[in-house]
Amino acid sequence: MYDNDYVPGRNEPCWCGSGKKYKKCHAAIDQKLDRLSSEGLEVLPRGLLKTAEDIEGIKRSAAINIGVLDYVGEHIRAGVTTAEVDKWIYDYTTEHGGIPADLDYEGYPKSVCTSINDVVCHGIPSEDDVLKDGDIVNVDCSTILDGYFSDSSRMFCIGEVSDERRRLVEVTRESVYAGLAEVKPWATLGDMAHAVQSCVEAAGFNVVREFGGHGIGLEFHEDPFVGFVGEPGEGVVLAPGMCFTIEPMVNAGAPGIDMSDPNGWTVRTKDGSDSAQWEVQLVVTEDGYELLSW
Ligand code: MF3
Ligand code: CO
Repeated sequence: MYDNDYVPGRNEPCWCGSGKKYKKCHAAIDQKLDRLSSEGLEVLPRGLLKTAEDIEGIKRSAAINIGVLDYVGEHIRAGVTTAEVDKWIYDYTTEHGGIPADLDYEGYPKSVCTSINDVVCHGIPSEDDVLKDGDIVNVDCSTILDGYFSDSSRMFCIGEVSDERRRLVEVTRESVYAGLAEVKPWATLGDMAHAVQSCVEAAGFNVVREFGGHGIGLEFHEDPFVGFVGEPGEGVVLAPGMCFTIEPMVNAGAPGIDMSDPNGWTVRTKDGSDSAQWEVQLVVTEDGYELLSW
């Protein structure tokens, strides 16, 4: 097999733990991946494909992640500090038995990223950042439950937001759904990326190149890297069981970024323009995809 991983006999139990015979379960998918790999396409190792048990675990984790973002949506308003948002995330997540995946991740000091206006990503919650009327803020939140990871983010408009900011937020959300519409077995990540990029650029905005989505499930960041610029037919082939995020960062101005913040994390637009991001987590199914976190 292309990835040198174990192949059961046709009448033996499938490697995925379904209890079905291999020939009635993953045999056909594995053969197809083997053939596509020999034809020169990029195929993920089968060890990254999620089993039914994995998906159940990820959904339990995602129930917390979705719940905490719903909670943020109900309470966020002008006058709240991003440090308070961080406390909501920590308290809600731990009270539901989860661990905020961001906390201590590669030294990250808080439980969530709060990225306001020209902050592209990795805004660190602070008592000094008071949300005010007209701000747009991304709240990016990730949960670990029983070793399963979930990850999603949403934009929130604080009070009365300018038409241009609102359009940036809406187009960015639409671009995620344009990408999702391309997700099905045997399509490629390039098909999805092209749809995102086309939607963003048709509106006159730009996709950030340096950051993207990622595989996720048993680790926070697994292969593959998921970019949001590309051409149809390029990149990793999608297969049932692949679990990854779609999370384009979209700048109202030029796509360039500034990573010079002394905190070592916070990324801003180079030209000072606004930036927005929405993130969903999905699994590729037999005939399309299922959203796991949003
Ligand atoms: N949640 C981000 C993502 O979508 C990762 C944040 S890592 C942190 O992949 F350390 F900054 F929290
Ligand atoms: Co992510």
